[in-house]
Formats: sequence, C-alpha cells, structure tokens
Amino acid sequence: MKRILTTLFAMAAMLGLQAKTLPVNIIPQPREMTLEKGTFKVSGAPVSYDILLGTESTDLVRAFAARISTLTGQASKVSAKPGKKGFVFTRNASVPAEGYNLTIDGKCAKVEISDYKGLINALATLAQLMPEDFFREATAPKAEWLLPQLAIKDAPRFGYRGLHMDVARHFFQVDEVKKILDVMTLYKMNRFHWHLTDDQGWRIEIKRYPKLTSVGSVRKQTIVGHHKSKNATYDGIPHSGFYTQEQIKDVVAYAAQRGITIIPEIDLPGHMVAALAAYPELGCTGGPYEVRQKWGIADESLCAGKEMTMRFLEDVLTEVMALFPSEYIHIGGDECRKGEWEKCPFCQRKIEELGLKSDGHWTKEQYLQGYVTARMQDFLLQNGRKLIGWDEILEGDLKPGATVMSWRGTKGGIKAAKMNLDVVMSPNSFLYLDYYQSDKKDKEPLAIGHYLPVDSTYSYKPLDGIPPEYQSHIIGVQANLWTEYIATDKHLEYMYFPRALAAAEIEWCTEENKNFTRFKASLAHQFRILDILGVSYSRAIYGDYGLH
Ligand code: ACM
Ligand code: ZN
Repeated sequence: MKRILTTLFAMAAMLGLQAKTLPVNIIPQPREMTLEKGTFKVSGAPVSYDILLGTESTDLVRAFAARISTLTGQASKVSAKPGKKGFVFTRNASVPAEGYNLTIDGKCAKVEISDYKGLINALATLAQLMPEDFFREATAPKAEWLLPQLAIKDAPRFGYRGLHMDVARHFFQVDEVKKILDVMTLYKMNRFHWHLTDDQGWRIEIKRYPKLTSVGSVRKQTIVGHHKSKNATYDGIPHSGFYTQEQIKDVVAYAAQRGITIIPEIDLPGHMVAALAAYPELGCTGGPYEVRQKWGIADESLCAGKEMTMRFLEDVLTEVMALFPSEYIHIGGDECRKGEWEKCPFCQRKIEELGLKSDGHWTKEQYLQGYVTARMQDFLLQNGRKLIGWDEILEGDLKPGATVMSWRGTKGGIKAAKMNLDVVMSPNSFLYLDYYQSDKKDKEPLAIGHYLPVDSTYSYKPLDGIPPEYQSHIIGVQANLWTEYIATDKHLEYMYFPRALAAAEIEWCTEENKNFTRFKASLAHQFRILDILGVSYSRAIYGDYGLH
C-alpha cells in the first residue's frame, strides 16, 4: 500500500513538473493575483464577446482576435455570443470602474469588465502576459503561443493617473506624442497633461489670435548648455513647431480610444512671454518682447490689470475647450513674477479697485494673481469645466472647487487637501523626470540638476502626511517631464522610462502591493517590450549609464 501511494505521489509530482509555469511580470502589479500551474493555448483559441459591451469595446476585441490570428498563424473564430472556451469577454456590472477580472484556466481566458476603460486595462494585462513578439508589427507566425493559468481581480488605487509632457521648451511631433500615449495605455495611465504654452514657445493653434503661432511658436535660437552656467552661448538655430487644431482633434481622439483623457495646459499669467512676443499689448509695459531663448523664470507676465488680458484668456480658453473634452483645464499659475505688476499703473489700479491689501499672508500682487485665477475658474465653470493649477494658485486665496497640482514637494497638496480641495500629487522630489536618473552625471545627457533614480521615484507614498479624513481629496498622482534640456525623441523617452513605470505603480497599486525588488525584476520583460516598440529607456539599474 505504501509503495502504491509513493508511486502515486511520484507520478503526481511528475505531472506537476510537466505542467509548465510561465513567468508573470505585469506592471503595474495587479491588485489580487493567484498564479496556477499550467498554460492556456492562445494559438487558434476562439474569441467570443458579449454584445452588451458596446461597439467601441467589441471593435477592440475583434482587433485583438485579428492580432492573435496573425501572430499565431492560426485563425481565431470570432463570435458575438460568449462561449465556454477560448477568450471570452463579458460584462459584469460588479467589477469596479476601470477594473477587470481575468481568469485563465486550461480551456478559457475569461475577461469581465464593467466599462470601456476596464477593457483597455484588461487588454494591457493580456498583452504583457503574451510572448513579447505580441508587440511586433510583423513577425513570422509562431504556432505555439501560451498564457499562464491565473486569476486576477484588478482595479486602480487612484482615478487620476497622470503623465505630463512639456512641448513648449522643445516641440515634439504628433507621432511622438502618440507613441507616448501608446506606452501610457500599456501601463494603465489615463491622464495626459499636455503643457502647450510657455515663455519659450506657444504650441497650439488659436484661430482668433494667429500670431500666437506665427510669432509665438518660433524662437530665434536656444541657449547652449546649462542656463545657470556663466558666459552662456546660443546655438543660432531657430526652433519652432505647433499643433494645428486638426492635429489636436486627431490626438485627442487617439488618446480617448486608448482610455486616456488629455488635459491641456495654458500656463497663465506667468510663463507667457511667447504670447507677449505675439501680442505685446497684453503685457504691463507693452513690450517689445521676444520668445525666450533661455531657461529660468522670466520677469514678464501678462498684465493682470487690463480687461483686454481677460478677454484674450477667455477667447483662448474657449477654443481650447472646443478641442479638449476634458473636465479639467489646467491654467498653470506657477512661477508668476510680479515685479512688473508692482510698477504697472494698470495692475495697481486694479488692485485698488478690488481693495486688495498686503497682509501677513500674501502681498497685494499675490492677491491679484488670485483674482486672475478666480476669473478663469468662474469662466471655466460657466462652461461646465473645472480649473486645475500648480500649487502657487493657493497663494492669495483660492475659491472652493479648484484642484491643486502639488509640485513644490508635497506641502501644497497637504495644505489643499486640508482645505477640502482636490489634489493631484506631483512632487518634484519624487516625480520630476527631468532630474538625473543616475549619479554618474558625466555619463548622462545634460539635465536640469538634482538626482532622482527609479527607486526613489518608486518609494513615493502619495498619502504620506495627509490626515485620514482628508485622504479622499487625493484624486491622483502625476509624473512630469520638462524639456528644457531635451530636444530629441530618443532623449525624451530615455528620461521617461523606466521612471514613468514606477509612477504607473504608484498610481495604480496599493501600498501593500508595491515591492521594488519585484518591480525591478519585472523590468527585464518590460525592457524587451520597449525594445520591440523602439522606445528608449535608461539601463542605470544594471549599472549601464547614459543614452546610447
Ligand atoms: C513647475 O515645475 N514650474 C510647475
Ligand atoms: Zn500690469
């Protein structure tokens, strides 16, 4: 009897050994995941779906079926009635927003979702579970494609999962923007903050003010090297570029299809020198102004005392709102120098008219910026939109209903949450991807300074310092990339990745599910995917420094 049992155990062990275990390296880590032994055969698996998912979703499911047919060389039968075998996509109203359940056994890979974004996220997980060739444009069909057996119940920690791109300091073409949107989808990020205007360039066509692009999108030349170095020289090469309204509509639609909302930023009332170069009458002195050729904060701002400025801003925002369906419109608000306001008769008259006074908290000019912010907020509200701005909007009082993006560390975000304002946490100390990502600065491309390796980004805990009763005001997290020192697509991507993947985990995962050792191990798989996609990234975690 004992011999029989021993033999049975030995046989079972052998069977167990035969059941393959495939590696799983999903980023961001799913909320709940149980790995099983054994595999599911992708090749030739039928694909079926629930018609209740809606056309937008069923189109995506059909595209997925077509993709696996091409890649495996074996046709997948597609059916609009959920089956019991193969890939089955169904609706389940109890799945949380943007979440999904994925159960893969020997016969069936079942996806349950309650919304379109859940489907996008489920497909991102499936894509990361597939052999990496899934990402190739063209590959010789391989007969045997397998998925691991597992059970996942996944949903995001934060509703706002952002990535920012500055296209004002250096312009990036539509194709590059779309490439970044594609990568965002793969890592389940859902808000793209498009920094469209700044002192060094205006990048969005505004029909009512054509000089914003004909004049404001062109700078004569660019400073060479670091802006803080003495004896700065300039390259003598004009830099220009802007998006037409047609291109913007195309990008907005492209993003929406991938579950991403684009939040446009028109940075005001500071960071406006490019607009002032086009329309000098909007400044305190009347100019002349030139599109700025160096980095660092400009002394010139829009004149807050002229009604003409407010009309200009409302006209611009009207065209912006027509292009971007986003609930949030970002009005910047950061680093607005007020030296000219102190001397400007228009600004001072406005201060008097409004009865603004310097007090122990803020200067009367800071209150004047508060007045500009409040006017923009009212205007956006009248148009059914919400204002979001950098944490300087907290200076000089801020009306309820505004959302604060905390960039100067976490202080502003903590303060805003305690004022019952919604907050997106984006502290430079953890999430500024323009900082050096290795300490071998001599081997790295020139960056703005500071040192922020991927493990530091990863260590960020968005709710640190927020009292429990205010934590629901932290609606999300965002990583930012400023492009003063970044002029090429390859360099742009190099600065984003892999730190943007660390940001994706902060945005998606609960604290208990974060683990840098597991994350770092999973990067090898993700790097192979990025290689196939032609996306550049830093290998500093392997001791390989610099952009090659
Ligand atoms: C910022 O970095 N000035 C928002
Ligand atoms: Zn003024």
